[in-house]
Amino acid sequence: MSIINRKKQHIKICLKEKVEEKSYFDDIVRVYNALPDVDFDEINTKVEFLGKELNLPLIISSMTGGTEEAKEINKILAKVAENKKIGFAVGSQRAMIENKELSETFFVRDVAPSTLVLGNIGIPNLNELSSEEIKNAIKEIGADGLFIHLNPAQEIAQKEGDINFKNSIKLLKKLVSELDFPIIAKEVGQGISKETGEVLKKCGVKAIDVAGVGGTNWIKVETFRGGSIPDSLLNFGIPTTCSLLELKNLGVDLISSGGIRNGLDIAKSIALGAKICGIALPFLKAYEKGGEEEVIKYVDRIEKELKTVMFLVGAKNIEELRNKRYILRGLTKEWGEQI
Ligand SMILES: Cc1cc2nc3c(=O)[nH]c(=O)nc-3n(C[C@H](O)[C@H](O)[C@H](O)COP(=O)(O)O)c2cc1C
Repeated sequence: MSIINRKKQHIKICLKEKVEEKSYFDDIVRVYNALPDVDFDEINTKVEFLGKELNLPLIISSMTGGTEEAKEINKILAKVAENKKIGFAVGSQRAMIENKELSETFFVRDVAPSTLVLGNIGIPNLNELSSEEIKNAIKEIGADGLFIHLNPAQEIAQKEGDINFKNSIKLLKKLVSELDFPIIAKEVGQGISKETGEVLKKCGVKAIDVAGVGGTNWIKVETFRGGSIPDSLLNFGIPTTCSLLELKNLGVDLISSGGIRNGLDIAKSIALGAKICGIALPFLKAYEKGGEEEVIKYVDRIEKELKTVMFLVGAKNIEELRNKRYILRGLTKEWGEQI
């Protein structure tokens, strides 16, 4: 099956089937402050990421490109990202490297001239694509950096999956050394461990997006496409909250994603060391429900909720929010005790 058809199916399945897991964010409690020394109207949610200022610690995670529908989705999401000053990432650019005519379905700089825009390519593709081709794909869309997705669990569940990950560390290291823009490693929903984080740091990645268990489940998405995996492994991986704990002391900027659904999840992720957060499927659903208007409403709701949590814990800015106390319970607590 062509990549284009596969990407079309991904969107359809993600919108129609039950592919979202319950997150573990209930395991984190932000501690209430009954006497906050804060004026709600002065709360500042700005952060800097990869040299760009964002109004919220938020990026629309990598999803799509390659078709007319994908072009429309990318344009609307990127337009809102620009207006709200949050980040935006395109989906895997392999299709545009293989077929130049598809580049325009990934290009969003016309609607998002200034905000953080990131490209995307998969680790399995490093076998067949040269650094030069990847560099050109990033330049062509004017991106500020590149997400490399690491997805062995998705590939093994996928009908036509690429399950030879041999040499991937060597290839990633080579790519980082040959490209002159930031590279961020990301999972797609199964999380990243401390050991993998250490390898990624040695490879020279600028940041890591944990993309853990608790949001869109890509093993399940692939089984809906006819792939298979033993039932016992349908939810294999590291929950987002636990993956953040795994990487907290690594000394690399972290993105929290995989099941982030609201401003409270963002406030919890910040406490566990995330610099910014990523959200994918809810943005696609908002687009599907009501286009630009719904996407704007969703960002506004997240902003209002994040600011409200900040008020209730007594934090005037994101740094203060990070340093306010939190309580861990359940699996996330147990996991943290055993790292
Ligand atoms: C429709 C769709 C397409 C996606 N395509 C890509 C992709 O091309 N590259 C990638 O790195 N991640 C891709 N992802 C994964 C997301 O970037 C994200 O890591 C994952 O869905 C977890 O976030 P969520 O729970 O907020 O959806 C896709 C997600 C969705 C929903």
